[in-house]
Amino acid sequence: MKFTQKLAAAAVLVLSMGMGGSAALAAEEGGHAEQQNWTFAGLFGTYDEHQLQRGFQIFREVCSNCHSANLLAFRNLSEEGGPGFSEEQVKALAETYTIEDAEAEGGERSGVAADRWPAPFASDQDARDANGGALPPDFSVLAKARGIHQPFPFWVFNYFTAYQEGGADYIYNLLVNYHEAPEGVEVPPGQYYNSFLGGTLAMGPPLDDGFVTYEAGEGEAVPETLEQYSKDISAFMYWMADPHLAERKATGFRVLIFLIVFAALMYLVKRRLWANAH
Ligand code: HEC
Repeated sequence: MKFTQKLAAAAVLVLSMGMGGSAALAAEEGGHAEQQNWTFAGLFGTYDEHQLQRGFQIFREVCSNCHSANLLAFRNLSEEGGPGFSEEQVKALAETYTIEDAEAEGGERSGVAADRWPAPFASDQDARDANGGALPPDFSVLAKARGIHQPFPFWVFNYFTAYQEGGADYIYNLLVNYHEAPEGVEVPPGQYYNSFLGGTLAMGPPLDDGFVTYEAGEGEAVPETLEQYSKDISAFMYWMADPHLAERKATGFRVLIFLIVFAALMYLVKRRLWANAH
């Protein structure tokens, strides 16, 4: 192969790595994990603003009744690469919440953009008491703390496809896999069987078809199904845990291009220097 051909082949390889693969893989914990096609996958991945807005709506209307998101500030919702709300929208939204503030008159005031998302319970103990003893985990970085397990050799491919959306795939698969327990599996009171986990957990199915009416946005109507909701909230939670992903990917890609060009230049320099060496 000529050098230019090799260079082209390398470029094609790098580009195809950026596309991000999708495959159905078995999760280690009994169940079956279906990998989704996330817009933020691969080398060029970015968040879909409308999907994040829908995911936020689900978070606000459903999940945030039990789960906190202590690292999320209202103003994050208007930051670049996120759900793309305007600063006015965020301000108006924050004002609808009451924030506990020891310095405010009466110990309470209405929210401002810089406030963190108010927790649904005053303490972990209150949260447990309301949830049969189980603590709903904080959402801030949950999407990064979970992942799907892949048997060899699949995880090896992840290095090439830059796959790192395991947390989003985990949440999606958890939400769509509440089923009747198979025969012989006992489900204790206050527990729910989930075939993705291959066991039970203390959270009942939080979503179902038609559960949330999406605020009319731009473009086509989005299906109001369990699958769609689950995708949208998973994407939102992934954004929350990794809001600067798109920026980082863009930087990474520029570095790759630089390295390829630099390698080519070095090769030409080498040829030139050694041209007369017989
Ligand atoms: C009625 C309260 C309640 C609501 C509403 C709720 N959750 Fe939960 N969630 C819980 C509790 C309690 C747990 C802890 C379960 C356990 O430890 O067994 C939990 C655990 C989780 C977990 C962690 C599972 C794991 O791997 O440990 C995820 C992810 C999750 N919830 C996502 C969601 C999402 C997404 C929504 C909104 C669509 C939601 N939850 C709504 C109560 C709730």
